[in-house]
Amino acid sequence: METVDSLFAEHIKVLQSRLVEALKLQQFDALIIHSGQLKKVFLDDQTYPFKANPHFRHWLPVFDNPNCWLVVNGSDKPKLIYYRPVDFWHKVPPEPNDFWANYFDIELLARPELVADLLPYDRANMAYIGEHLEVAQALGIGHTNPEHVLNYLHYHRSFKTDYEMHCLRQANHIAVRGHQAAKLAFMEGLSEFEINQVYLNAIGQSDNDVPYGNIVALNEHAAVLHYSHPERKAPAQRRSFLIDAGANYAGYAADITRSYAATNGLFGDLIEAVNRVQLEIMSQMKVGMRYTELHLKMHRLLAQVLLDFNLAQGSVDSLVAAGISSTFFPHGLGHLLGLQVHDVAGFMQDERGTPLAAPEAHSTLRCTRIIEPRQVYTIEPGLYFIDDLLGQLKQRPEQNQVNWAKVDELRPYGGIRIEDNIIVHASQIENMTRDAGLD
Ligand code: GLY
Ligand code: MN
Ligand code: MN
Repeated sequence: METVDSLFAEHIKVLQSRLVEALKLQQFDALIIHSGQLKKVFLDDQTYPFKANPHFRHWLPVFDNPNCWLVVNGSDKPKLIYYRPVDFWHKVPPEPNDFWANYFDIELLARPELVADLLPYDRANMAYIGEHLEVAQALGIGHTNPEHVLNYLHYHRSFKTDYEMHCLRQANHIAVRGHQAAKLAFMEGLSEFEINQVYLNAIGQSDNDVPYGNIVALNEHAAVLHYSHPERKAPAQRRSFLIDAGANYAGYAADITRSYAATNGLFGDLIEAVNRVQLEIMSQMKVGMRYTELHLKMHRLLAQVLLDFNLAQGSVDSLVAAGISSTFFPHGLGHLLGLQVHDVAGFMQDERGTPLAAPEAHSTLRCTRIIEPRQVYTIEPGLYFIDDLLGQLKQRPEQNQVNWAKVDELRPYGGIRIEDNIIVHASQIENMTRDAGLD
């Protein structure tokens, strides 16, 4: 039986061997990875919520402790300098004694400025990974965020270890609990603000814990792609609900969206259709394809939905070529997922960091990678009624392909997005979101 402990042991082994290769590229002795520092609000004594450096979080599930350091060289046991101040004003992090602690030589740091005594003596041929370059300089670390090393690490971060897959599945389980509670809260007629509270309560995480700001949108607000100002008051009429909300597990992100109609009818049927094509595109996803190709296939499937629902006339080809499918589906099909909700390296084609941009007509696509085992993606098609984009389309000759009366009927519902989190395996796609019980 695999335990979290054995998964973590393997995870550290993989990171160590990647590091050996990365260090060779620039002949460094070691990396010194900084979790980060608290940042004060301008002219205030309050600090912003702390978000630890993802390179630090890759090595261990500590994401809320600033002033920590890792010294890693790929062969020696990783050294963790763990910040544990003597402080009666704030909650002090407990002494590390979780399962992961055995994998590090741990030294406690009582005051951030004492770190120099705990770091290796000669740091000239080491590289600092972090955002506080002035700190690296003051400590005499010879290099900062070296490009070739970072490219290598970023590219390989897309290939998840079994431990990371475990964490991402857990994040999905937690988020699904929230989605199920939020759906009921919508049915009960709560406001956007209240539904968000219900969601957070159900997952036991705060606004600062979740990997991105939840999108909780009723009615036409569902047309605002990154809607972030939830209304305190419930609308007089409840038509539709879009919730894009995740969860954090051990520093890994879930990123899930669902759409609901208040009553049966045209909009509910359209949700069903988007759900159907979302499942369809995942069944077409195969190792060796480029993600871009899937995105373009999605446009064709959604163009067919526009035709089926008599929202537009013509052919699939003409709707895609004229950019009409892009008016209704203006964002990318999805992105890499992991330690960050939009995980690094979506455009990297190799470990040297060679970039491939998205096609010009699809500039909002965040990923052009070849699909390979151990990658984790979101698959999130959408279909929206966005006034600005519809207004632009109306100025163009192709507007005569659109059934504007039908579009106007649907504008008050805002839009639809269905987003699942999947793992690519050699001969199968694992849908973590549906497996966790979300329809
Ligand atoms: N929640 C942001 C996204 O779906 O990409
Ligand atoms: Mn999302
Ligand atoms: Mn997403």
